[in-house]
Amino acid sequence: MKYNNNYENPIMPDIHFRPMEEGDIPVYLDWAKRDHVKTVWFIDGYEPPDYIHTKVEGNGYDFPFILLLDDQPIGYIVYCDLYAYKNICKEPSGVFTDEPPGSYCIDLFIGEESHLNKGYGTQLVKKFSDMLLTQKQAKRVLIDPSPENTRAIRCYEKAGFKPIRKGHNGREEVIILEKRSTTCSM
Ligand SMILES: CC(C)(COP(=O)(O)OP(=O)(O)OC[C@H]1O[C@@H](n2cnc3c(N)ncnc32)[C@H](O)[C@@H]1OP(=O)(O)O)[C@@H](O)C(=O)NCCC(=O)NCCS
Repeated sequence: MKYNNNYENPIMPDIHFRPMEEGDIPVYLDWAKRDHVKTVWFIDGYEPPDYIHTKVEGNGYDFPFILLLDDQPIGYIVYCDLYAYKNICKEPSGVFTDEPPGSYCIDLFIGEESHLNKGYGTQLVKKFSDMLLTQKQAKRVLIDPSPENTRAIRCYEKAGFKPIRKGHNGREEVIILEKRSTTCSM
């Protein structure tokens, strides 16, 4: 176990992410079959697992990444540039269909069950959202969990997100949480 590169908590292994490649798709599809992922991510009405091919090829607004614990792949995280989504996608759906420039949303899962509830999600969401706010000039980062997903909500709040409103994505009610740039006046 490595203890470097994590100045916030020196006893936590290093959690990081890298852009997803074609070669990562088989492990993604394997994670998609696991109960704790399938029941939250791949329920009826949501995008099918195979849609990942389009994201990895590049659709102009979704940017998928693989989560690494030290060097081991343990999950998936994606950001969507919501202004690009609004302008490029022919039939935008969900709760974020008309957002101004500088708005991004994120979503993730830890695929390996043994790595749930260890603080990795919190550390990762904080790092990933801070990357968007500092390197991609995001003004706000949004996320829309189900109100029943209390573990995810707790994780996002610990990573600096605040609930701002409820929404309906066409299939179910969701809670919208937001993290803002400290220099943003939007
Ligand atoms: C959501 C997810 C990314 C969070 O990552 P994680 O590493 O498991 O979460 P963390 O350990 O960082 O934090 C979880 C927090 O929720 C708490 N928690 C765990 N189960 C809980 C529950 N059923 N209800 C409320 N809180 C819960 C934990 O105690 C912890 O809080 P604490 O540090 O104050 O004790 C991960 O659990 C996951 O991938 N889940 C399956 C897919 C999913 O739900 N994705 C999100 C879609 S919006």
